Amino acid sequence: MTLTGINNNDLKLILFGGKGGVGKTSCAIATAFELSKKFKTLIISTDPAHSVSDCLEQPIGFNIKEIAGVRNLSAIEVDADEALTEFKKEHQNELTKLLETSTYLDKDDIDEMLTLSIPGIDEVMSFNTILKLVEEGNYEKYIVDTAPTGHALRLISSPKLLDGWIKVAAKIRWKYRFMITRFSGTYQKDEVDAMLLSLKKTVKRIENILQDNSKCEFIPVCIPEAMAIMETERLLAELKRYKINIKQIIVNNLLQSEDCNFCKKRKTAQKKYIRQISETFTSLMMIPVPLQPEEIKGIENLRRLGMLLFGGELLKPEQFRSAASDEKIKRLRK
Ligand SMILES: Nc1ncnc2c1ncn2[C@@H]1O[C@H](COP(=O)(O)OP(=O)(O)OP(=O)(O)O)[C@@H](O)[C@H]1O
Ligand SMILES: [Mg+2]
Repeated sequence: MTLTGINNNDLKLILFGGKGGVGKTSCAIATAFELSKKFKTLIISTDPAHSVSDCLEQPIGFNIKEIAGVRNLSAIEVDADEALTEFKKEHQNELTKLLETSTYLDKDDIDEMLTLSIPGIDEVMSFNTILKLVEEGNYEKYIVDTAPTGHALRLISSPKLLDGWIKVAAKIRWKYRFMITRFSGTYQKDEVDAMLLSLKKTVKRIENILQDNSKCEFIPVCIPEAMAIMETERLLAELKRYKINIKQIIVNNLLQSEDCNFCKKRKTAQKKYIRQISETFTSLMMIPVPLQPEEIKGIENLRRLGMLLFGGELLKPEQFRSAASDEKIKRLRK
């Protein structure tokens, strides 16, 4: 078993992230294919580019859809803008009241403020949709495909951002409450207080699952190139700050052939970065994936990638370095 512990029953939420174009979507879906052999699995795409449906060559939408041709596997797209529009529609009154009761703003100011985004709210709402799916418990594994690094980080950092906003809103409310109590002697909690409390609970629930090592894991995908390594390093440092569980890294696009001059040159360049990867991500187990002769599209190719991800040995950084640098990769990945 290559992807360590991913078959563990407790592990529910598995997020894939990394630099643009390194193979996140391919690896996320291929992993879901393998998991679906044993577990009822849901792929959640948070990438507005809809690449999950392109990769699977079947349309997916904002409702859960079973994947034709793969038993036990479904997929859904979650869109931050859509989730935010829903939230604003649902809480328009409370947001207006929060501003009306707490400041000296006139109607135009309030309307203007309502069109501004609350920091983190769109990503929190899209994470909230993910969380609701996990809490409904209709699936055993939830695989999240994120858009490139910045997006994954926005998703992960959104609870903190929103929490900051809630604190300010709560302070404004506290002043309002103080004033009302002063004039009328009592204060009845209203729908604005209820909304803030519910937002606070959402933030907490998201933080709880993200930081629960037994339930959630983040799998970075990297390729042996300078910029991808640097970006992955930054991503991992940020994720560590948020106490996200990371145990293993997929190193994709490893060249196998040295048969022609071009391949020889590319492979020489890769060897340098393979060494750098093994020396940079020293605490992670490594999953080498060879560059395939064709793009990973359609069910058959995804199944093959799934077998590569799950079929080989689990490598420590130094084992990865020697395996990925020479011909052993061929044997390891058969
Ligand atoms: N091991 C591989 N061998 C050959 N082609 C690959 C491999 N891994 C990924 N690809 C191809 O590389 C391209 C990018 O892969 P993918 O869409 O999975 O990356 P991504 O990280 O999700 O990209 P984005 O950042 O745009 O979401 C796709 O055409 C995919 O088929
Ligand atoms: Mg993608």
